[in-house]
Amino acid sequence: MATVSSNQAKEQSSFLTKKLLPWTLYALILVTLLHFYLNTLSFPPSPQPQLLHSLNSHSSPHSPPPSDDEKGEDTSCDYFNGKWVRDKRGPLYNGTTCGTIKENQNCITHGRPDMGYLYWRWKPNECHLPRFDPLAFLNLVRNKHLAFVGDSMARNQLESLLCMLTTASSSTLLYNNDSNKFRRWHFASHNVSVSLYWSPFLVKGVEKSNGGPDHNELYLDHVDERWGADIGEMSLIVLSIGHWFLHPAVYYEGGLVLGCHYCPGLNHTEIGFYDVLRKALRSTLNGIVDRRGGKGGSDGVGVIVTTFSPAHFEGEWDKAGACPKTRPYGKEEKKVEGMDAEMREIEMKEVEAAKVKAKGIGGFRLEALDVTKLALLRPDGHPGPYMYPFPFSNGAQERVQNDCVHWCLPGPIDTWNEIFLQILKKWEEQHRTEE
Ligand SMILES: *[C@@H]1O[C@H](CO)[C@@H](O)[C@H](O)[C@H]1NC(C)=O
Ligand SMILES: *[C@@H]1O[C@H](CO)[C@@H](O)[C@H](O)[C@H]1NC(C)=O
Ligand SMILES: *[C@@H]1O[C@H](CO)[C@@H](O)[C@H](O)[C@H]1NC(C)=O
Ligand SMILES: *[C@@H]1O[C@H](CO)[C@@H](O)[C@H](O)[C@H]1NC(C)=O
Repeated sequence: MATVSSNQAKEQSSFLTKKLLPWTLYALILVTLLHFYLNTLSFPPSPQPQLLHSLNSHSSPHSPPPSDDEKGEDTSCDYFNGKWVRDKRGPLYNGTTCGTIKENQNCITHGRPDMGYLYWRWKPNECHLPRFDPLAFLNLVRNKHLAFVGDSMARNQLESLLCMLTTASSSTLLYNNDSNKFRRWHFASHNVSVSLYWSPFLVKGVEKSNGGPDHNELYLDHVDERWGADIGEMSLIVLSIGHWFLHPAVYYEGGLVLGCHYCPGLNHTEIGFYDVLRKALRSTLNGIVDRRGGKGGSDGVGVIVTTFSPAHFEGEWDKAGACPKTRPYGKEEKKVEGMDAEMREIEMKEVEAAKVKAKGIGGFRLEALDVTKLALLRPDGHPGPYMYPFPFSNGAQERVQNDCVHWCLPGPIDTWNEIFLQILKKWEEQHRTEE
């Protein structure tokens, strides 16, 4: 026994020394990447009147009343274990037809030469995952306000959803505040509002900035009111965070400094970021339960936590070929492990804990959108050097910035929203049987 635990301790400490440095490096890379994201403007979003009619004509028959086909669907399936299989149909939309794609994720228009990554679909082990049906989605969220809250992965998922929804119905941009960080669209056809709230920690935070601190500051026991103030008017909340927790930060709890992560020069205890992520998520989910717990019935609230989406840097981030793969990993080729596994585990556990807390509150739904595994198997889906237009137009480059974190649009992240739709269908079924 003693040997086992001392071995474990040894493994753990070597794990820490081996992993902590790359993490820190990785955090700095992200700081650089994010600097670019925040300082490069995306295309002005514009409503799209006519889109890919040939591609999505299949979705028109799926109109309001659920067909027998849909009723027979097994929405209780485990959608999160499976494999990527070839699919000749390709995506619902393309980068030139959807006006809301952030430029850095618009791989096709940036000249990414290979197209193979667009022709895969996710096949869960025990069932079939239907292709995204924009009208079915809009019908399920009719008269609702759907909010995406979190970091740039939340934005990535939101933009994927908007691109798919606008193939069936047009949207108007209601506001765009603080350079794309806070935006809202409205689909008049179904009175659906979709909004985006920038909040990379979900809890109150001060982001590292030129004029401000050279690290982030997190207040772990306070929900970030930039989105929290609107909780009362949200019907569906999709939370997506993770990568920003790797950055240097000082943490506060109960008005006191709790510790920090990578803060040399400050006299604070290094506490890493796992417990911090746990606390931030707990405060957030508790905050939603507390603020919405009193309201019941069909006017309740649904909360989705999108789990950690792994990065795929294979080499140096500023060398060509930082994420060079052009096809998915096979089912058994890659296991969720290390930091990816820890981040996911924390998110899954907090969702389970919040489910217990919300038990008995009518109309309160909560689910993890557990994409970590299916994301891990898609090293081919990132912009890589194509975060910028035609990076090799002047021949081979010595140094080129790569994004191996976000996803090309269209791309694998469209699948997150296909599963999101299945979760909504399941909730709708549960709602019907509860009545
Ligand atoms: C994108 O879709 C538009 C409209 O259907 C089409 O004209 C265009 O050729 C497509 N572009 C690509 C790269 O597939
Ligand atoms: C439209 O949706 C909003 C929620 O986003 C809701 O408050 C409002 O009542 C809806 N309007 C109608 C006419 O149903
Ligand atoms: C965005 O700006 C509009 C108009 O100035 C304002 O009413 C709204 O509250 C702002 N929303 C957010 C989330 O910042
Ligand atoms: C650092 O913190 C320790 C423990 O809180 C304290 O004893 C020490 O005086 C501090 N050192 C400095 C330079 O502030």
